[in-house]
Amino acid sequence: MGKELVNWENGRWIGQTLEVENGVCAVPSRDPAVPDGVLEYTDEVKAATDHLYDQVSDFIPKFEWPAFAPIVHAINKLKKEKNAVILAHNYMTPDIFSLIGDYTGDSLGLAIEATKTDADIIVQGGVHFMAETSKILCPDKRVLIPSMRAGCSLASSITGEDIKLIKQRYPGIPVVTYVNTSADVKAESDICCTSSNAVAIVESICADWGVDKVIMLPDEFLAKNVAKQTGIEVIAWHGRCEVHARFSAQDVRDMREANPGVVVLAHPECPPEVVAESDFTGSTKAMSDYVGDHKPKNVILLTECSMSDNVAMANPDVDFVRPCNLCPHMKRITLENIYTCLRDEVHEVLVPEDMREKAFKAVMDMINVKFDPVKGHFDPTLPEKDVKVI
Ligand code: 13P
Ligand code: SF4
Repeated sequence: MGKELVNWENGRWIGQTLEVENGVCAVPSRDPAVPDGVLEYTDEVKAATDHLYDQVSDFIPKFEWPAFAPIVHAINKLKKEKNAVILAHNYMTPDIFSLIGDYTGDSLGLAIEATKTDADIIVQGGVHFMAETSKILCPDKRVLIPSMRAGCSLASSITGEDIKLIKQRYPGIPVVTYVNTSADVKAESDICCTSSNAVAIVESICADWGVDKVIMLPDEFLAKNVAKQTGIEVIAWHGRCEVHARFSAQDVRDMREANPGVVVLAHPECPPEVVAESDFTGSTKAMSDYVGDHKPKNVILLTECSMSDNVAMANPDVDFVRPCNLCPHMKRITLENIYTCLRDEVHEVLVPEDMREKAFKAVMDMINVKFDPVKGHFDPTLPEKDVKVI
């Protein structure tokens, strides 16, 4: 076959031009901590990984597989040697999600898995607040995050000091905090929620406190979407997810016009007018389940870009229209930094014990609220409600 320059495979642009020799390409390392040649595509690696390729064949061209297989093999070996697990959020890229993730899911699902695992080390395939949540729930385990820079625009929109001031200003009103927040914010909150259980948590804490008003933060849009689903009055904070806030109602109308009959699923971090234009709204898990259960002919997921890749793998008969909004924080997690973080046991996430105990209560109280998952879905036909934003 000899040498050839390749930039397309199966009619798909692969984003770069690669030199391929006898069907194998030398993909340069993406991370100086894993220099070229350290992890090689040996016969042992090939034998141990060949069966994995089919899962990602839509995303990794065959001739690039020799660049992925050694690192996938090395991570899977390290996990066994060190009794480690990888919790991979639905927004991880397909290589992480399907080749090395031990548990995959939404924020609530990963938090629950953290409480169940008997591993000594948890590597969080997700952003910093998710790793902190694992540490809050599992103080005796080492929790590692491959990149300390994997933040979240919602988590950085509010501090524990802000919560103290809000509580002074609104005494007697429970503070429900989205898990997309730092440990100090959780520690000052009355209870946490995720996009799966937000409505149920708001209703449950108001019943416990005997009140009909709640402060829900930091996501303004999630709070507004929740307010429409319940008789409870909601006071919101002005945080936004930089990924979901970019979707507009006009985008949805344009996508419907360009793709007649398409089913539109939205995450509740999207603006309320986007939710109102969608067919279904729920957490990342709820969106994934919807596609699996209903098998729409074609579908749009209004959420982070990699999610469609992962749901598409499990639903090869469904066509995905892919508006691609990437979360820059989630995308800081790569196979390479997962490998070096586990190999060198670096980037450990720590939470001061007094803060952890208070945050633990807020997270555990949330996990203990039993709810009907269908109540976690947002009815797009309900009218907008006035929500005070502080
Ligand atoms: P889920 O809990 O629905 O997975 O959402 C997490 C998140 O960060 C969405 O942007
Ligand atoms: Fe945060 Fe939005 Fe990224 Fe989720 S998608 S981690 S809410 S910035």
